[in-house]
Amino acid sequence: MSVDPVALWDAEAPAFDEAPDHGLLDADVRAAWRDLLLGVLPPAPADVVDLGCGTGTLAVLLAEQGYAVHALDFSPAMVSLACAKLADAPRRVRDLVTVRDGDAAEPGLAPASADVVLCRHVLWAMPDPAAALANWIELLAPAGVLILVEGRWHTGVGLTAAECVRLVGQLRHDVQLQTLDDPSYWGGPTTDERYLIVSRR
Ligand SMILES: C[S@@+](CC[C@H](N)C(=O)[O-])C[C@H]1O[C@@H](n2cnc3c(N)ncnc32)[C@H](O)[C@@H]1O
Repeated sequence: MSVDPVALWDAEAPAFDEAPDHGLLDADVRAAWRDLLLGVLPPAPADVVDLGCGTGTLAVLLAEQGYAVHALDFSPAMVSLACAKLADAPRRVRDLVTVRDGDAAEPGLAPASADVVLCRHVLWAMPDPAAALANWIELLAPAGVLILVEGRWHTGVGLTAAECVRLVGQLRHDVQLQTLDDPSYWGGPTTDERYLIVSRR
């Protein structure tokens, strides 16, 4: 019997933000992600597409810094929590974010319309990661930046950094890999492979 991925993610939604890197509820963990992303994003204002946005944590974090964020997720429960998070945010943040239900594999957004495509912990979940990546790269404006946060977790799921570099390298000239082994991103030490990939051309 096949498992419905939307139902699986819906089931994850209520407790999703309890992981330090998901909810970014701890000020130090939040600051670590803010600084990491600001270090690789173009200066605000810029248009960011956040695919597989989950509960909208990164969308709100980036809007707080002045980025316009178009976020989507295929899990109604995740989208609902993202909308609730947004509703609690200050107006200047709310006005910069849109959240909608959609398939990250085929986002259906205008080609060459985004300054940044950001996907954290989503590529590994795509049925065809290479095809999804090609669709994401099409969304980028000529000087657009692809930002992926991925991992290969101790549970055995995920993508190794080598696999991810290979996938991006098939489509882009520039592939920068940064290991994210600093506990400040995760609320404590980790033993699995976690990393950031940035591609600028
Ligand atoms: C591990 S969570 C990451 C959430 C968010 N990016 C973050 O870092 O907090 C993966 C998210 O991707 C979403 N997702 C998985 N496959 C998707 C697809 N095909 N289309 C849209 N969203 C998808 C899930 O619903 C879930 O919210």
